[in-house]
Amino acid sequence: MTNTYAIVLAAGQGTRMKSDLYKVLHPVCGKPMVEHVIDHIRHLDADRIVTIVGHGAEMVEQSLGNKSEYALQEEQLGTAHAVQQAEEVLGNLDGTTLVVCGDTPLISSETMKALLAHHHESEAKATILTANADDPAGYGRIIRAENGDVLRNVEHKDTNDEERKVTEINTGTYCFDNRALFETLKQVNNENAQGEYYLPDVIGILKSKGQRISAYTTPNFHETLGVNDRVALARAEKEMRHLIAEKHMRNGVTIINPEQTVISVDAQIGRDTVIQPGVMIEGPTKIGTHCIIGPNSHLQNSTVGDHTTVHSSVVLDSRVGSNTAVGPFAHLRPDSQLGNHVKVGNFVEVKKSQLGDHSKVSHLSYIGDAEIGTNVNVGCGTITVNYDGKNKHKTEIQDNAFIGCNANLVAPVTIGKNALVAAGSTITKNVPENSLAIARVRQENKEGYVKN
Ligand code: UD1
Ligand code: CA
Repeated sequence: MTNTYAIVLAAGQGTRMKSDLYKVLHPVCGKPMVEHVIDHIRHLDADRIVTIVGHGAEMVEQSLGNKSEYALQEEQLGTAHAVQQAEEVLGNLDGTTLVVCGDTPLISSETMKALLAHHHESEAKATILTANADDPAGYGRIIRAENGDVLRNVEHKDTNDEERKVTEINTGTYCFDNRALFETLKQVNNENAQGEYYLPDVIGILKSKGQRISAYTTPNFHETLGVNDRVALARAEKEMRHLIAEKHMRNGVTIINPEQTVISVDAQIGRDTVIQPGVMIEGPTKIGTHCIIGPNSHLQNSTVGDHTTVHSSVVLDSRVGSNTAVGPFAHLRPDSQLGNHVKVGNFVEVKKSQLGDHSKVSHLSYIGDAEIGTNVNVGCGTITVNYDGKNKHKTEIQDNAFIGCNANLVAPVTIGKNALVAAGSTITKNVPENSLAIARVRQENKEGYVKN
């Protein structure tokens, strides 16, 4: 959209959160709420996005990076004062400016687009996004004339008894003619219950000057929640969790119990995959088709192929191939890569290791800093002894090797192709290909030792 700009208000401390973390950085479904707002705006193709920062400015900028430009509000004197800080960047431009609060993470791009369209159609100088709330407490109220025209907004703390009964609320999202916005901001005063410069006062001022004002009432009230405290934060989380689950279900993913499933906004899941209860999928995790992601699994920033099962397991920053089985009770730590048709069974920990296609580590093993080829069988209880107390060392197990149960592979060490390692061996030297290595005390039987 040409000549369209956006301002995101994110300078407040968020006193009502009672938190060391700045309000707009509190995550909702794994992503800071202000980042949700910015990501929704980015779908509009605005020419510029300016985020107003103040409390925690550095952390907010760090978390949003180059998704936005920034303007600093040194003292938090109110939302009108916050918007004024963008004047240096946007003040001289012709066009339309969308203003959104950094604490309304659920307002969708579609709703923002509908607001912009309504604003352009009605040729207004300012259009306010409103909603009808069952419980309007805490929100600004929209005061309309008898003919339905919007006259002004009154903040909850400034309402009289009549005004408090109004259920149409200000969502904190607006469209303005950019030049009219910055001119009018200069006329906003702070003579109100909170002694703050209120942005919605711009609406009343423009109206009193005979300018055209408009309101767009969204039918999606559930999107308009403003997060001021942790009760609202939990509500936002629930609402977004529901929206995300619904999106995946409509795309062909079965989610057995959406209420008990947490999926990040950035996750991708293929068709016919089943997500069982208690699953937590974080970050930009990508899961293929026809997978079963078992109960109580936790996947973070990972990729899973097609037809793979992950059962009651933890998968962090790792890649799992197709037709592979993980768990129950496996732990894939960062930088692990499992190929196709691989099995990593119960009580197996894998760290920074690769397992080639058709390889199996079925029970009770630690595999760290290892490169395992294809078709390798690692027996129960095998340990890669990768740490000497100072440094980590690598274990290499080449294609088709067979490691017997309860072997210690003291790294650095290489087990050659087709080699066999006898059960109970402690391997300290490389094993050449096609060889059998036995490294254990020979058994001695003392006949008759036990006297009856
Ligand atoms: C605001 C609106 C209210 C609306 C509600 C919707 C005003 C005066 N009131 O109230 O009409 O119903 O949102 O959720 O605008 N901020 C700054 N600098 C400041 C003050 C605030 O950047 O000096 C930022 C905050 O970080 C926050 C946003 O502006 O992201 C809104 O501020 P907040 O204090 O939460 O306003 P509300 O009381 O919720
Ligand atoms: Ca708020």
